[in-house]
Amino acid sequence: MSEQGLSNLMSEERHFDPPADLARDANVTAAAYEEAAADRLAFWSKQAERITWAEPYEQVLDWSNPPFAKWFVGGKLNVAYNCVDRHVEDGKGDKVAFHWVGEPADDTRTITYADLLDSVSRAANALIELGVEEGDRVAIYLPMIPETVIAMLACARIGAPHTVVFGGFSADALASRIDDCDAKIVITSDGGYRRGAPSALKPAVDEAVARSPRVRNVVVVRRTGQDVEWTDKDVWWHEIVDRQSAEHTPKAFDAEHPLYVMYTSGTTGKPKGILHTSGGYLVQSAWTHWSVFDLKAESDIYWCSADIGWVTGHSYIVYGPLANGATSVMYEGTPDTPHKGRWWEIIQDYKVSIFYTAPTAIRTFMKWGDEIPAEFDLSSVRVLGSVGEPINPEAYIWYRENIGGDNVPVVDTWWQTETGAIMISPLPGVTSAKPGSAMTALPGIGADVVDDAGNSVPNGSGGYLVLTEPWPSMLRTLWGDDQRFIDTYWSRFAGKYFAGDGAKRDDDGDIWLLGRVDDVMNVSGHRLSTTEIESALVSHDKVAEAAVVGATDATTGQAVVAFVILTEAAGDGGPDVVAELRAHVAKEIGAIAKPRSIMVVSELPKTRSGKIMRRLLRDVAEKREVGDVTTLADSTVMDAIKTGIGSSD
Ligand code: WT7
Repeated sequence: MSEQGLSNLMSEERHFDPPADLARDANVTAAAYEEAAADRLAFWSKQAERITWAEPYEQVLDWSNPPFAKWFVGGKLNVAYNCVDRHVEDGKGDKVAFHWVGEPADDTRTITYADLLDSVSRAANALIELGVEEGDRVAIYLPMIPETVIAMLACARIGAPHTVVFGGFSADALASRIDDCDAKIVITSDGGYRRGAPSALKPAVDEAVARSPRVRNVVVVRRTGQDVEWTDKDVWWHEIVDRQSAEHTPKAFDAEHPLYVMYTSGTTGKPKGILHTSGGYLVQSAWTHWSVFDLKAESDIYWCSADIGWVTGHSYIVYGPLANGATSVMYEGTPDTPHKGRWWEIIQDYKVSIFYTAPTAIRTFMKWGDEIPAEFDLSSVRVLGSVGEPINPEAYIWYRENIGGDNVPVVDTWWQTETGAIMISPLPGVTSAKPGSAMTALPGIGADVVDDAGNSVPNGSGGYLVLTEPWPSMLRTLWGDDQRFIDTYWSRFAGKYFAGDGAKRDDDGDIWLLGRVDDVMNVSGHRLSTTEIESALVSHDKVAEAAVVGATDATTGQAVVAFVILTEAAGDGGPDVVAELRAHVAKEIGAIAKPRSIMVVSELPKTRSGKIMRRLLRDVAEKREVGDVTTLADSTVMDAIKTGIGSSD
C-alpha cells in the first residue's frame, strides 16, 4: 500500500455517532466488547442461551485438532424447532414470519409462524416418504418463494443437509453441485417470475438430472403454471406435501450435525462446497442478526434483499431472523419491476425498519437518481446494512441520506460464505461509524491485519485480513476435501484463518477492507487497491460505476486499467473525459494510482451476487481470450464490452 493511497482513504474524516435514542435502547452496549475480551468462550456460551438446546453441551469449543473446530460439544438441538416450533409454543403462532411479496403486482402471501410449522412439518413428512434419511443431501433450486424457506427448514428438521443452488445458475453449475455432494433429491419449480415474465427453471433441472443418475426424485413446486416436461422421477410438491400429516416430531441432532453445503464460485477449478453445521452456526447467525441490526423482534420489520441462493439469504433471511422470531419481508422480484421505485414502495407499504442490501444495488440506485426514493415515505427505516463488497464512501453517504433520512446508522458488515455470519461490523447503538470502514471485529471475534510474514501491522498500515480465533459459525471443512480446506485457508499464516482480503488499519485501529488480495495491485513496487481507485473514480460526478484491474505491465509490474460507466453528467463522454478522470484519480490518490487506460463501457460483468468479475476484465485489459463466463449474471456483457472497446481502441 502506498503512503499516498493510505492517506487518501484515511483522509475520510466523516463519522456518524449512533442516534441517541437508538443508543439508549440498543440490544448491545460497549460492555459486550469488554465481556468478550475478558472471557471469549464464556461470552459465546452466553449467546448460546438464545437457542433452545434439547441436550446441553459439555464444552463450548474443542480446538484440540485445528483447523477442525467443534462448537458446543455434546449439545443437541433441532435447527427447525428453534426457527419455528418454539415460537409457536411461546404463543407467537399468529406472528408473521414473512410478508412475502411476489413479483406480479398484488401477488402476496402472509406467512405466520403457525403456518410455517404446518408447512415445514408436511414437507418434512414428504421428504421422509421419498426415503430421505438423516445425513442424505437435498439440492434446492428455486426462486424466491416461500417454499424455498419451507424446503430448507424441512431438510434441517430431518437432519438432511441442503445445498441451495441459486436459480440463476446454469444446468452445468447445478449438475456439478448435485454431483459433488451426491444429492438424492432435487426440489425445484416450474419457473419463477423475472422482470414481468415467467422464466423456466425445470429444464435446467431436467438436463442436470439426466446427467446425475443417482438423483432419485425431483419435487416440483408449481409457481408459474407454465408447461413442463415430466419424467418418472418427478413429483409435484402440492401432490406430495399437501396430503401429509401436519404432525412431525423434530429429532435433536448433534451440534456438529451438517446443516448445509453452500458452493462458492472459486476463482478457478471446481466450486468449493462450504460446510456449515448446526449449533454454532445458529448461535452466531442469530446473535449477529440481533446485535448488528439491533433487532426488536416485537416491533421491527426486517428486510434483506439478498437471494436465498447465497449465504446472505441463508443466514439473514432464513436462519438468523427465524431463530430470533423476527417478522421479515421477502421479495421475489427485481428492483426495477414494474418500476424503479419498487423496493422503496415495499419499504413504505410494509413499514420496513431494518434494511440490508449490497453496495452494487446502492450504486445502481444512485445512477437511477435521488428523485426515485424521494417519492416514497421511508421514515420507518431505523437501521441500514451493507454487505458483499467494500462500500465506497459516496455510496455509503447516498444510502444514509436518501434511504436513511440522514439520521440512521449504516452498518457495513464484513463476512464471507466461509464465516457463515457477520464478523466485522459496527454495532448501531455503539459505534461511531466511518463511511467505507467495517470498523472492528464484533465481540467474541478475533481479527487482525498482518504483513507477509504474518505479523500484526501497526495502525496506519495495510496487509492481509486474518481471523485469529475460531468462531462458532465457521466453515468446518470443504465438502469431501479436508486437504483443500487446510491449504486454502490455514496454510498461508500459521494458526490463522486467511480470508483472502486485503485490509488496513487506520490511525484509530479501525479496519478498512480493500478487496480480495488478488485485486490488490503492485505498481512499481507500490501496493494499490482496486477498491481505492474505484472509490476515487466514482467520487467524480461523471462516473456511475467503476471497476479497476491490475494488468501485467512490462515496466511497472502491474498497471492500473479502469472500466467506467458514465453518468448523465458526462453527456456523450467525449475525448476529454478520460483525461479528466485520470487527472482526478491522480489528485485523489496520487500519480502512482493514475490508470494507464480508462475504458468507457455501458455495463460491467457481474456475478449473480453482484460481484464484479475482475478476472474477465483483466483478460480484456491484457488482450487475452476472455475466460469462463458461466457465473456471469448476463453472459452477453463481455461481448458488449469487447465490441465497444474494439471500436474505440
Ligand atoms: C467476500 C466474501 C458475506 C456475504 C456476501 C458475500 C467481500 C463481503 C464485505 C464488506 C468489504 C466485503 C470480501 C469477502 N465482502 N462483505 N462489508 N466489505 N468486502 O459472500 O461471496 O463469500 O464473498 O466478499 O472480499 O472475502 P462471499
